Amino acid sequence: MERVFSGVQPSGVLHIGNYLGAIKNWLELQNDYQCIFCVVDLHAITVPQEPKELLAKTIEVAKIYLAAGIDPKKSTIFVQSHIKEHAELAWLLNTITRIPELERMTQFKDKIRGQKSEVSMGLFDYPVLMAADILLYKAAKVPVGEDQVQHIELARSLAQRFNGRFSEVFIIPKPMVRKEGARIMGLDDPTKKMAKSANSAYNYIALTDSPDTIREKIKKAMTDSGKEIVSGPDKPALANLLTIHSLLVGQPVVEVEQQYQGKSYAEFKNDLAEVIIGFLEPVQKKYNALDDSEVLKILRAGAKKIQPIATKTMAEVKKVMGIIE
Ligand code: AMP
Ligand code: TRP
Repeated sequence: MERVFSGVQPSGVLHIGNYLGAIKNWLELQNDYQCIFCVVDLHAITVPQEPKELLAKTIEVAKIYLAAGIDPKKSTIFVQSHIKEHAELAWLLNTITRIPELERMTQFKDKIRGQKSEVSMGLFDYPVLMAADILLYKAAKVPVGEDQVQHIELARSLAQRFNGRFSEVFIIPKPMVRKEGARIMGLDDPTKKMAKSANSAYNYIALTDSPDTIREKIKKAMTDSGKEIVSGPDKPALANLLTIHSLLVGQPVVEVEQQYQGKSYAEFKNDLAEVIIGFLEPVQKKYNALDDSEVLKILRAGAKKIQPIATKTMAEVKKVMGIIE
């Protein structure tokens, strides 16, 4: 079976963009691939994190995976730092990465805007660690939101370069990006993606938001000029809300548009809020029923299960590079 690898950082708040862009797609892959889903704590610390919060968030993200329907009997979930080879392989890949390749990364450029002097080496190197995550397990497919495609392109280049220079060790991974939902936009600004690190909580619907908070946030969400509930390039706000609605009810956008013909923004928004609440209710219920120590056990068992893959890849890598084991 081909392998799938993906991950989410334990920082900020997980939102419906993370769910619709990434996690939702993971669920469908569990039967057809050997899936590995990681909580990437080493990525989270590329920007300052409060240690206590990092710890809590690491468990929280794992709980969200489980509550959303990742089945630890089918898929492996684990914490990145529990397998030391991620950092080790990142170092080796650093030696074949060119500085301009990292300087071009859009996410890096976005993140350093206005704070250049405090930017860490880790943030610059973030995509190389991500390449290591993927290549270490020889994953063939990487299901992510659109913002991560550039990083996967780098992983592909590094794998090709390594294979060419040393020996065919790595599988060249492919991004798996859905057309719909790969880029959910901010509720308060539909020209920018919904982001964990947004300044305002009105930017996103967190997966842990209460029904009242969701109603309030959807009510306040930006809309476009006009009255009709239609999607289109000149209607970024409605296009986004319609996409969210459509993905959560499993109906194409055109059908949702038809359903709201002649209806008001208020009616549409009321219904959308209820759709989101209805979707999140069982997820939150499952989430709240999960016990931290139980989750930690699952994470440790996950790392134990895949450690042999990491050990084997590293041995192959070192051998062809001339590093004595
Ligand atoms: P992150 O929140 O950066 O750890 O991202 C975790 C996953 O969620 C990645 O696959 C991202 O591509 C995806 N993701 C993050 N934000 C969005 C968004 N606004 N729309 C769709 N997918 C997203
Ligand atoms: N950089 C990804 C994000 O922020 C998270 C991530 C880390 C990842 N390593 C990965 C995703 C490997 C896919 C594969 O969304």
